[in-house]
Amino acid sequence: MCGIIGYIGTKNAIPILINGLKRLEYRGYDSAGIAFLQVNGFSVSRCAGKIRELERSIRGEKLRAKIGIGHTRWATHGRPSEENAHPHRSGGIVVVHNGIIENFYELKDDLKTKGHVFSSETDTEVICHLICDYEKKGLSFRDATRAALGHLEGAYAIGVINESEPDRILAVKNDSPLVIGLGKKEFFIASDIPAFLKYTRDVIFPENGEMAEITTEGVSISNFRKNRKVTRKATRITWSPTMAEKGGYKHFMLKEIYEQPRAIADTIRGRFSLEKAGVNLDEFGLKESLLKRVSKIFLVACGTSWHSALIGKYMIEDMARIPCEVDIASEFRYRQPLIPRGSLVIVITQSGETADTLAAQREARKLGARVLSICNVVGSTSSREAHGVFYTHSGPEIGVASTKAFTTQLTALYLFSIAMAKAKGKLKDKEITELFSELLQLPEKVETALKIDGAVKKIAKKYCKVRDFLYLGRGINYPIALEGALKLKEISYIHAEGYPAGEMKHGPIALIDNDMPVLTLAPNDNVYEKILSNMEEVKSRGGKLIAVAVEGNRKAASHSSETLLMPETNYYLTPIIFSIPLHLLAYHMAVLKKCNVDQPRNLAKSVTVE
Ligand code: M6R
Repeated sequence: MCGIIGYIGTKNAIPILINGLKRLEYRGYDSAGIAFLQVNGFSVSRCAGKIRELERSIRGEKLRAKIGIGHTRWATHGRPSEENAHPHRSGGIVVVHNGIIENFYELKDDLKTKGHVFSSETDTEVICHLICDYEKKGLSFRDATRAALGHLEGAYAIGVINESEPDRILAVKNDSPLVIGLGKKEFFIASDIPAFLKYTRDVIFPENGEMAEITTEGVSISNFRKNRKVTRKATRITWSPTMAEKGGYKHFMLKEIYEQPRAIADTIRGRFSLEKAGVNLDEFGLKESLLKRVSKIFLVACGTSWHSALIGKYMIEDMARIPCEVDIASEFRYRQPLIPRGSLVIVITQSGETADTLAAQREARKLGARVLSICNVVGSTSSREAHGVFYTHSGPEIGVASTKAFTTQLTALYLFSIAMAKAKGKLKDKEITELFSELLQLPEKVETALKIDGAVKKIAKKYCKVRDFLYLGRGINYPIALEGALKLKEISYIHAEGYPAGEMKHGPIALIDNDMPVLTLAPNDNVYEKILSNMEEVKSRGGKLIAVAVEGNRKAASHSSETLLMPETNYYLTPIIFSIPLHLLAYHMAVLKKCNVDQPRNLAKSVTVE
């Protein structure tokens, strides 16, 4: 997730900008840059890599400025490079941006026909060109920016400075974070409070659709759509710098769990058209003609991403009726897989750097398959070596336990399955729009699902001393049982197993006694009655049952000691909603056991060795 910083005041802006960027490093980034005003105009310094590279590039120069903006970039459009790093510039307009401009392709084409020359692959660059275009038509800086904003679709927080009005910063918020710091004759803008906490604790949080005009005299906020002034009260921050980095959450894992509504919204942003009942395939390097020719799909991944792959099989086979094979990457690479002509291999990887997944990906290419990577990190090895990439855009995941990356992978697979089904003529446009409509409601439903947190914490208190835990699911939610078990063992070190519930009688039922907690996933699907019977089997042997079911389900409650009721969604999206209480349960159990939640023992975030 990109980070923005901006300063206007009486001190030297440059060390403030650099310090601010360092405080935003926790958000993850792959390049950085600053722009500041000197006597002869704005200077822009940018580089791929770490902030220390940026510092190195300006070291030794006697730089002083009273106004400037800076940025750490987490690539979304275009690889991490100096040209794609922010700030971007057109004429005297310099911009930093966090978010995604959905309609930037159309805007870019339009601006090119007007003679604008682009120097990056980013969506951001259209913003400075648009403002510049309006300024040339005689509009003031503020009005030109307002007019430009009228064209933008998507999520954005923007900082803009202008050579011809060098006494002000414009800062805009629409669905991406932005906070303004209030000092004495000095002001800050940032994506997050730690960026300027060293200088002030007094802040204003602009709301969506608002623009702040900031000079050394003060801050004036207006609704940029209605062009009407608004008043926002200042708030005093009492958090410590570390608390502030985690947004007030105790751990990155919890923060990332709570980020899911936003992360899912970013994954689906601009990815499909309700009117055309279609997925926008261009961005993924896939053509419908290619999808039409696909006769077999292999899904390959490790760990939590492998659980996504298992769920992806249910989605693709059910919607598109194409046979899918799922492999753990470390098995695929050595098993000499038979890859018939017309095969598509989908590798799923948050980091894009997992050694086994990369080896499997290379093996698949060697065997002649086309490869699609579902990946979170732009410019990662997997994304570079694949024929096509579906970026999940969930923002950096810092906690070792994968949470938001998992649910956004499932969201990506849902969209891919629809695209595949459409190409194969297996879904009618009406059915596709229904699937899209449900997807549009998903971020809100996830928000509602997160309200289960308090109830989950109580369950965690009751069970945090157990030695073993069993998770049961069936059908598309069987991999969620595996995911619940993996999360619990990974961060709380409690031994846990996930099973397809129908398999109980074939062995695991022997484990059930009065000490064994069994969490069962019981959505209202085609195997609901079956799972109730499986719950009976556990109950009659004294096992302690925790059921995850859908709102309004009284039957599941009568079968179990604890019931967690979740919002209803369609069959394919249930795993996303049902993973939430399981991730929360693992989190609370680990906290209660005083484990290192974000960095569990023996584990690394990115497993780059075999
Ligand atoms: O970056 P990747 O998605 O390729 O990582 C795969 C696994 O290492 C990862 O999902 C791991 O299982 C997580 N720690 C699970 O929470």
